[in-house]
Amino acid sequence: MAGEQWKSKIGFILAAAGSAIGLGAVWKLPYVAGTSGGGAFFLVFLVFTLLLGTSLLLAEFVIGRKTQKPPIQAYKELAPGTPWYWVGILGIISSCLILSFYAVVGGWILTYFIRSLTGGLTDPPEGNYGILFESIISNHWEVGAAHLGFIVITILIVQGGIQKGIERASSIMMPALFIIFIVLVVRSLTLDGAMEGVRFFLQPDLDSLDGQTILFALGQAFFSLSLGVSIMVTYSSYLSKKESLVRSASSIVGLSILIAFLSGLAIFPGVFAFDLEPNEGPSLIFTVLPAVFNEMALGSLFFTLFLLLLLFATLTSAFSLLEIVVSSVSHSNPGRRRIAAWAGGLGIFILGIPSNLSYGLLSEWLIFGDIFFNQIDFLVSNILLPVGALCIAVFASYFIKRSELREELLRGSSLGSGFFSTWLVLIRYITPLAIIAAFLHVLGVW
Ligand code: PFF
Repeated sequence: MAGEQWKSKIGFILAAAGSAIGLGAVWKLPYVAGTSGGGAFFLVFLVFTLLLGTSLLLAEFVIGRKTQKPPIQAYKELAPGTPWYWVGILGIISSCLILSFYAVVGGWILTYFIRSLTGGLTDPPEGNYGILFESIISNHWEVGAAHLGFIVITILIVQGGIQKGIERASSIMMPALFIIFIVLVVRSLTLDGAMEGVRFFLQPDLDSLDGQTILFALGQAFFSLSLGVSIMVTYSSYLSKKESLVRSASSIVGLSILIAFLSGLAIFPGVFAFDLEPNEGPSLIFTVLPAVFNEMALGSLFFTLFLLLLLFATLTSAFSLLEIVVSSVSHSNPGRRRIAAWAGGLGIFILGIPSNLSYGLLSEWLIFGDIFFNQIDFLVSNILLPVGALCIAVFASYFIKRSELREELLRGSSLGSGFFSTWLVLIRYITPLAIIAAFLHVLGVW
């Protein structure tokens, strides 16, 4: 039975780019680059994204589009009677965990956005945005309500279905996000002293590269293309057989890189122009940026725009994280979509409560020396995602027949054997080796 499909190729590209572009590009990349050597980090990230990220994205696309089924069912169809469907289960578990803390940050953004509209950000205590941020995120009623609000918006869109929910919302939010980005980059680059920030972000200081940075860049490349979780398997299962996977993947990777680049250009010039520290870490966008915007003409307007952009970026990623759960439950019975969206979304909200309280009531509760929120992020980004990515690379390249892989990958495109063979080498050898090397490095073996 052919289920629902994307209405247009561009709708699919915007939704998939919406999943990819999120906190990874706009929040994580700038602060990780800020603490790991600026341009050098960005360069390594770029190479990993172009070679390994694109190959893995294509592998997920082949699995999804070939079967037109959500992950668990897709792995079952391609490798019947084997345990490979566990990769789908792992993807669903990872997605729930990601969304559990992603929605907490989404809630912070929502709170900031509402406060920016009502003037609640203009006068921080003692003129210090760090103190304001601490006081907001430890106020569990305010962030709890915002957390729930963020999840409810996500549920309302996802319950609408692929075309009327996710595709429609992404087709509005993503173009708006690009326009706001351009406005912010122009504002940022025209500040006095902006060039120092551009230099920090773009001039690679290769001496600052070490194993740790390279590892972060690999994790970041996968995280920011939403790979290793079978989300791209899910989204491509709704793509018509007529479209070229290679062309769609190039557009999605191109848009993601463009946004990562624009984020750096929007953020670092301001940080340097106002003599603030680029290596502030995770709270960079909540503590440093309000100070930056506060200093500039029409700053509060630009900050509100920035928060709106961040909200759109985060929501379009959240849609994909909930959709993988919903599609798995409602594939064979579309009537169950609404109930699946509500049950899944509210379950994930409850799962996220300890992450939310990590900054307030539960701040003293440490697991292996760190708060719950950070440990879940670590578990997902550094363990579950790379394991998922490794399994998908191995599955696609060793367990699907070469002729079938080739047919699905090249369908609708004019590329030939050379492209296919290069992709196969990347997915069969280079990607798994890079992931294994990264693991060995974390374990201190290498
Ligand atoms: N790609 C999203 C981001 O960069 O913010 C995060 C993400 C979404 C990761 C979906 C993984 C995923 F499956």
